[in-house]
Order: sequence, then structure tokens, then C-alpha cells
Amino acid sequence: MPELIYHGHATFELTTDDGTRIVIDPFLDDNPRCAVSVEDFDELDYILCTHGHGDHFADAIPLAKRTGATLISTFEIVNFVGTQGVENAHPLHIGGGYTFPFGYVKMTPALHGGVVAGDDGSHTTVPGGFWMDLDGKRLYHAGDTALLMDMQLLRGRVDVALLPIGDNFTMGPEDAARAVEFIEPEVVVPMHYNTFDIIQQDPEEFRSLVGDRAEVRILDPGESLSF
Ligand code: NI
Ligand code: MN
Repeated sequence: MPELIYHGHATFELTTDDGTRIVIDPFLDDNPRCAVSVEDFDELDYILCTHGHGDHFADAIPLAKRTGATLISTFEIVNFVGTQGVENAHPLHIGGGYTFPFGYVKMTPALHGGVVAGDDGSHTTVPGGFWMDLDGKRLYHAGDTALLMDMQLLRGRVDVALLPIGDNFTMGPEDAARAVEFIEPEVVVPMHYNTFDIIQQDPEEFRSLVGDRAEVRILDPGESLSF
């Protein structure tokens, strides 16, 4: 069974059945809720970044350089990290997926701020999320997003959904509960809350809003989930 460790905010560490180690949205060293740092990772295979905002991308380049892991993100972010000395990277874009040795990864739409990297703005990109099929276990990391009608396209296709509930920059608990109605996952893990003062939320409120539509697993940083 794939194992998912929550490191706070939107950062997750995933180990697949074949032992592939993946970090999604690495925000480690400056993440007030994260107990691990870049230096704790010696062996890492892939880094997935939903978008280039610092709270999802801050440690992507240091982690890639330290471990040689392949960074998977949008075409523009991959081009940008190439200018920063990252050697291994794979570009995807919204609606497109690719079969990697550990499974299939597809980028999903997210409604959120664009990102400009590089002095000339040449690496402007849109934010996304990731849908993964890991030997039949399907994981969805929504990234930073508003509630989207497009999430209905995922109905019945997600076993574990990682959804932001912090409000202010992303969906809050009510919209995230509506996303659960759209997606109908087996399990939902709330993320992107309680990292900063303006995204304080009670995940128990989210749990009660979801009701019996899905199992809500509230993970403290460092806790894990096998699925
Ligand atoms: Ni963001
Ligand atoms: Mn964010």
C-alpha cells in the first residue's frame, strides 16, 4: 500500500509500493508546522510541484540539487528550474499526464494565482493539481484552488483526496466539503490550514460538514496514512 506522510501545509511525502520516494509541494525549512528539513532527505526520486508560490515550491530546487530527484511540474516551472541548475525535470501541463515508472501522473486544473519566475517573466505559469494512479490507488492533490466545477470530472476516480480548507487563499471548509460532494473520494485529508494566522481553521468543522460522504482523516504533521 502506498504510504503518505503529512509534513504540514500542502507538503506530503509519498512512498509507492515499489519503494519510489516522492515529495509533493516541498515547503520544509520555513514551514512552521514541518518537523523535517531539506537536510533530512538523502534519497529522493521525484518532487512534484503544483505551482511556484513559495509555500509549495520553496525547497524544490535545494531538494532536487541535494538528491538528484526529478522535478515534475508545469513546462514553465521546469524551464525555470533548468536555469537554476536543476538537472532532472519533467514538464507536464494541465490535462496532460505521463506514465512514470511508479505510476501515472496527470496535472489537473486549479483556479488560483499565476506565478512569474525569472527576471523577464518568461516563466509565467498557471497553477495546477495532481491526479495519480499508483497501481490502481488513485490520489488527488488539489494544489491551491477555489472550488471548481471541473472537480466533478474526478467523481468516482479518486481514492484519497488532499484538499485545502484554509480559506483566504483557497477553498475554506464549506467549499472543500462541496468539493467532496463533487469528487466522492473514499478518504479526504484536509491541508493548507493552520500554517499562518490568516488560514486558521478547525478541521473538525470540516469533518462535520463532510458528514458521511467520505472518511475525513485529519493528519497532524508527521502522521501518515496508508491507502
Ligand atoms: Ni499558491
Ligand atoms: Mn499555498
